[in-house]
Amino acid sequence: MESFEFLVPTKIIFGKDSESRVGAEIAARGYKKVLLHYGGTSAVKSGLIGKVRQSLKDAGISFVELSGVLPNPRVSLVREGISLCDHENIDMILAVGGGSVIDSAKAIGMGYYYDGDVWDLYSGAAVAEKTLPVAVILTIPAAGSESSPSSVITNHRLTLKKGCTNEITRPIFAILNPELTYTLPAYQTACGAADIMAHIMERYFTNTPDVCFTDRLCEAGLKTIIEMAPIAIAEPENLNARSNIMWCSSVAHNDLFGTGRSQDWGSHAIEHELSAIYDIAHGAGLAIVFPAWMRYVYKHDLDRFARFGKCVFGIEPDSNDPEATALKAIDALEAFFKSIGLPTRLSEAGIDESRIDEMAEKCTVNDTRNVGGFVPLKTTDVAAIYRLAL
Ligand code: NZQ
Ligand code: ZN
Repeated sequence: MESFEFLVPTKIIFGKDSESRVGAEIAARGYKKVLLHYGGTSAVKSGLIGKVRQSLKDAGISFVELSGVLPNPRVSLVREGISLCDHENIDMILAVGGGSVIDSAKAIGMGYYYDGDVWDLYSGAAVAEKTLPVAVILTIPAAGSESSPSSVITNHRLTLKKGCTNEITRPIFAILNPELTYTLPAYQTACGAADIMAHIMERYFTNTPDVCFTDRLCEAGLKTIIEMAPIAIAEPENLNARSNIMWCSSVAHNDLFGTGRSQDWGSHAIEHELSAIYDIAHGAGLAIVFPAWMRYVYKHDLDRFARFGKCVFGIEPDSNDPEATALKAIDALEAFFKSIGLPTRLSEAGIDESRIDEMAEKCTVNDTRNVGGFVPLKTTDVAAIYRLAL
């Protein structure tokens, strides 16, 4: 195992009706004026935003609202949010939604204190040193942004989607009420499941030996989602399924599962190019990319893929033919994604090969960086993976 430091300062408030505590939690920290940030219509329709407004009023917190965050959140709305925070003397941001809203809130928080254009923090031109604090009421378990140090923002003018990892952006608290996820459509539930599994698999496929504890945590997380996601899709109001998925989702990306081990993250980088250009859901993109990535790299460590098959999908390993076991494991993953209604090929998402070379070049920044840690990939490798996914 490798040396590591692990600190997740986000207070998790989990359970039924926990959103009604939001005003009191903010008041207890001394904040007075909040930017209430949310997405399209779902949180208004469900009555959640009304409930949040009431909780803030009851606690004597004043607030201004900025809604309209789109999936694959735009830097243009982030800039609007920064100006609003400036004009209104906001002292914290409350994100009500999923990864897109939370990431937009994180970008506004950092951009508020940064002198230049906020995109610099995502292009790598600058690093934020300070942020407005962000708190979260989570409505979709998927991205894990509610306790992660990362955010991902899309710049449509440049057709770029870029991540920024900065410990100062971990939210101060996150409210997780699984009942708030009952309204999720089956497709969004499935996309969330794929993203959660991807966060675990990015950590599972490691070159670090002797990490049996975190291997087993990863396997438990994957098995939980494989068991619970179909239940949540069939029975949207199944509290047990929604609860286990929601908690697994947060832990899957707060980096507990990645402690002491090298990680990959190639599939995420490859997917971000897809959602930047084609605006597909991140989880759907991962369901397409991950099996293709696996088929490209599995020979690098047949034993790890065989273990994945055995411990996650219960595939009996063939000791004479570990390659066959590895391939069965990859097939099982793809079959699972299909079974919950996700595309697993680019063609199923209406994407052809016309922009593969462009995406591959962007992904490696014209071969100036390798993509992924398990097997470092160059532009030609990334292009080959997109082609395997056709
Ligand atoms: O906008 P509304 O109307 O709220 O609809 C949303 C949106 O259309 C809907 N939704 C959310 N909660 C709902 C609901 N519909 C009904 N009932 C509810 N309770 O779901 C749709 C998707 O929401 P979004 O926030 O985009 O989903 P997700 O949480 O999957 O976030 C995706 C974004 O997170 C980034 C992705 O790249 C993508 O941009 N990621 C962020 C990470 C991080 N910050 O650590 C890590 C991830 O790997 C990921 O890259
Ligand atoms: Zn993800």
